[in-house]
Parts: sequence; structure tokens; C-alpha cells
Amino acid sequence: MILDTPAWKNLAAHVADIRATHLRDLMRDGARCAGLVCEHDGVVIDFSRQNVTACTMELLFDLARAAGLERKIAAMASGEKINTTENRAVLHMALRAPPAKGAPSSRNARLRVDGADVNAQVHEVLKRIKTFSDQVRSGTWKGATGKPLTDVVAIGIGGSYLGPEFVFEALRTDPACARAADGRRLRFLANVDPIDVARALEGLDPARTLVVVVSKTFTTAETMLNARTVRAWLVKKLGAKAVAKHMVAVSTNLPEVEAFGIDPRNAFGFWDWVGGRYSVCSAVGILPLSLQYGFPRLAEFLAGAHAIDRHVTSAPPERNLPVILGLLGIWNASFLGHGTRALLPYCQALLKFAPHIQQVDMESNGKRVTIEGEVLPVDAGEIDFGEPGTNGQHSFYQLLHQGRVVPADFIGFRTSQNPIRLTGKPIEPVSNHDELMANFFAQPDALAMGKTAAECLAEGVPEGLVPHKVFPGNRPSTMLLLERLTPYTCGQLLALYEHRTAVEGFVWGINSFDQWGVELGKVLAKQVRTQLAASRRTKSPIAGFNPSTSAMLTRYLA
Ligand code: F6P
Repeated sequence: MILDTPAWKNLAAHVADIRATHLRDLMRDGARCAGLVCEHDGVVIDFSRQNVTACTMELLFDLARAAGLERKIAAMASGEKINTTENRAVLHMALRAPPAKGAPSSRNARLRVDGADVNAQVHEVLKRIKTFSDQVRSGTWKGATGKPLTDVVAIGIGGSYLGPEFVFEALRTDPACARAADGRRLRFLANVDPIDVARALEGLDPARTLVVVVSKTFTTAETMLNARTVRAWLVKKLGAKAVAKHMVAVSTNLPEVEAFGIDPRNAFGFWDWVGGRYSVCSAVGILPLSLQYGFPRLAEFLAGAHAIDRHVTSAPPERNLPVILGLLGIWNASFLGHGTRALLPYCQALLKFAPHIQQVDMESNGKRVTIEGEVLPVDAGEIDFGEPGTNGQHSFYQLLHQGRVVPADFIGFRTSQNPIRLTGKPIEPVSNHDELMANFFAQPDALAMGKTAAECLAEGVPEGLVPHKVFPGNRPSTMLLLERLTPYTCGQLLALYEHRTAVEGFVWGINSFDQWGVELGKVLAKQVRTQLAASRRTKSPIAGFNPSTSAMLTRYLA
């Protein structure tokens, strides 16, 4: 186990040295600050406000070597079945690899899983997505009444929803995407709550609506009930035959797609080597998003993710952005005891970034045993939450500054995706984007430096108020600065965080690619569902549950 290695023990011993420092002092050291910055392909990360020194970083890179990190990343990229509890490869990187050139030879062997040429499979589906989305967008593919399908409802939950919605929002105000989406609407339906159905369908005309049912397994209870509900909505207005023109599917389970009544020719496949939460770059995300923004924009998104894939698989750990981010996460969570992490994009278009990364990170690394099944004596995984700045500043930052220590990722852009253009020039000397970014730069320093009692007194703060106005500081954060939020940088950001999670899992020695912890609740929900159906039908009393659940179910049914 990684905890038994000298590398882990050396870091544990180093904690005391770091606890004796304060970022207020560490940040005075120009050489240290310059050494704790890393840049690749327009993405800059400044981690000088982490509770680390050059020595800490060396010890963390030792830990990465002890964990066999480079070997594990290579195993993932080569299609080894590293998801051992499900006997699956983990190849979301293959989803964004460009088409392989030339005929396969012994020298340029193609990536294969169970004998199948992965790259060829991926590009065959991408080609179908391009053709189909072009047809729908141009009006060549028409609805049952002959009207063009201008609106899309994507039904799916978890990994079949959160990533696509994050990217949808991220690109919605990108000028090229906005132009391409003119006259079109994309809605998501995830929750089985009927309220979500009402919201998703509000104002839509079945005759102009295309429904995309997205489910890796095509058995997820919520998605299937929502799919049946929306099918009934379509059929009521258009008749049963309309399903062929109005419903398509994205799944790995094509027999179930057919059993549901969707023509397999209208199904876009993916493969068991794509984990649900890592599936945005498969048809799960690329189909609905191409329908909205056109395939070329999504090709740029895939290129951005691929650029980070090349980086993570080739850069030395010391220059490798996801590796550095992952090691800092391990340091904060396992050594300094900071198990929570705030994701703070200073960009309103990234409003769905934190919800997506919550699933990527917490479903991946929220594990209690190592990949060999031994109980891990430290907590793996982090609790992720977040909100765009500056909104979050007026909500939960109080706790970040004076309450608990929560390492934070500040994500900002040099230029706005959508600058104000009322008069051709900024309406004030400082542009709206500069105002946003002034906060982006100020907050990490406020967290790191804090404010002492002496500083408060020097400012004339009355003595009784001083304890309330002291900021302890020494609170870690990382700044990520990118050029502008575009499809390409959105892809970079996605891959950066996917790999950060994988890096952490590889170091902890857990399986970041299964999710057995979601099963028990599903089994119990099935028991409750069966009971509810029986009680509603036959008025039979509630039986087989503990006294609390029985009593509450009885109240619910009363
Ligand atoms: O319940 C969790 C989960 O299995 C996720 O891992 C997955 O992303 C989600 O459900 C949806 O699954 P599916 O795509 O098979 O409908």
C-alpha cells in the first residue's frame, strides 16, 4: 500500500515543517513563487499559494514515482483493463484522438480492445454524428409532420447528463457557438421528478422536437421512466409512428435500445471502456451538442481535450499540469487534512463546471478500499463544491476566509468570452471583465495573506472588533489562467480535471473507474417502489421495512 512506502512517510514527516510556515512569509520569496508555476499550451497554473515549498514538491514527485504513476497513466492510455472490478479498459482518451493515419502495420499498431480497432470505432460514430446533426440542423431530417426539428431534449442522468450540460452552458455564449445555435434549443431532462419533465418540455412543440435518450446501460430507472414519459408526450400529439423520426438513442446497450422501440439505425453507440462520468467526449455529449452548435465546434472541443491527453501522457511529472494538480490534492487531503475543495471559475459560462466535476471526482475517488480490496487507512477522495465568482463571494466565501480551511481552485480567463460591446469600447475605464478579474486576483491573496490583529489595530479597528476582523490567512489555493473560454479551452479544462482525478486515484491506489457505492440505494429504491405499487393497488399494509421507514411510508400513502 502506498502508505507503507518511504515516500509517503517522508511526506508525513514533512508536514510539521510546513505547519511551521505561513503563506504570508512564503509568498515573499520571488524565486519560490516563480518555481511554483507551470504552463502548457496556453494553460497556466500558479500553485505558489499552496502550503508547499520546493522540498514538498520534490517529496510529492517521489510519491508519484513510488505509486508508479507514469506506468499507470501509460497503462490507461494503452487500453489495459485497469478497471479490474469490472474487467474494463479505461479509454476516454481514445474518444478524442484524431483518426489514425495510414493502414495499420506492425510499426503503427492500432489500439485494440478485445480485438476491435478503437480508433476506427470512435471515428465511425463521430462520422455518423456529423452526418445526422448536419441533416437535422439543415432541415433535411424532418419530423413526422414535415417540420424541421429545431428543439432537442436530451434525457439522461449522472454521467449521461452532467458533462453535456456543463459543455452546453460553457459554449452557449461563445460567439461562434451562439451564431450556430441561432433558432435552436437544447434542453436536458435528468431528474425523475415530474417537475423536471414539466420544465424540460415547457413551451416545446412535439412536432419540432427531437428526443435523445442517453444512457450507457439503457436500464437506469430515472432515464427510462423519463424516456417513456416523453415518448407518451410525443405519441399523444403525433402518433406512434412518429417515434422513428423523433427519438434517437446513445447507449452501449443496443439490444435494450431496440427493445424500447428506437430503431437501432437511430442509435449512436459507445463502449464499455468509456465510464459514464468520462463519457462527455463520446456520443453522450457530442451528439446533443453537435445538434445545438454544429459538429465543427465540437471537433475543436475534442482537440482541446486531446491536447491535454498528449500532455498528461508525455510531460515529465514536474511539468505535467494534471499530475501537479493531483499531487497537490493528495497533499491537501491526505497530509494536511483538508478534505474539501472549492471550484471557483470566474466565468459565468462555467456555472455547471462544479456539478460535473463533483461526479467526475467524487464518484471516482470516493472509495474506502485499495484496488486490491484492502481498507485504506486514510480518506480517499475530496468533497467538491463550487460556484462561479463573483457570485460565490457573496455566498460561502465567509467560511473560506474565516471558517474552515478549504483549498480552492480559481479559474480565470485573460479575455472574456463575451465582452460588453455597447459603444465599441468599455463603458468605464476598467472593463466589466477587468472588474471580474480584479476579484479573481484579489481573493487568492486574501486567503493566503489574511490580515493580522496588528494590521486591524493600525487601521483603527476598535479593540472589541479586532478578533472578528482578523483573517488567519495561510489558506491554500491554485490559480488557473487560460486565454478565453472557447470549445478548445473547454476541452482542455475537462481533460485537465478528468486526469487530475485519475492521478489522485492512481496515487491512493484505488480504482477510480468503478462506482459500486451507488448500487445499494438503487436496490432499496426498487423494494420501496414495489411496496408502493402493491399498497396503492391492494391497500396492503407496509411490511418488510424498519419501523421508521414503515411509519414514514404509511404517512406518505395516507
Ligand atoms: O448511478 C450512477 C450511475 O451509474 C453513473 O455512474 C452513471 O453516470 C449514471 O448512473 C447514469 O447511467 P446510465 O448512463 O447507464 O444511464
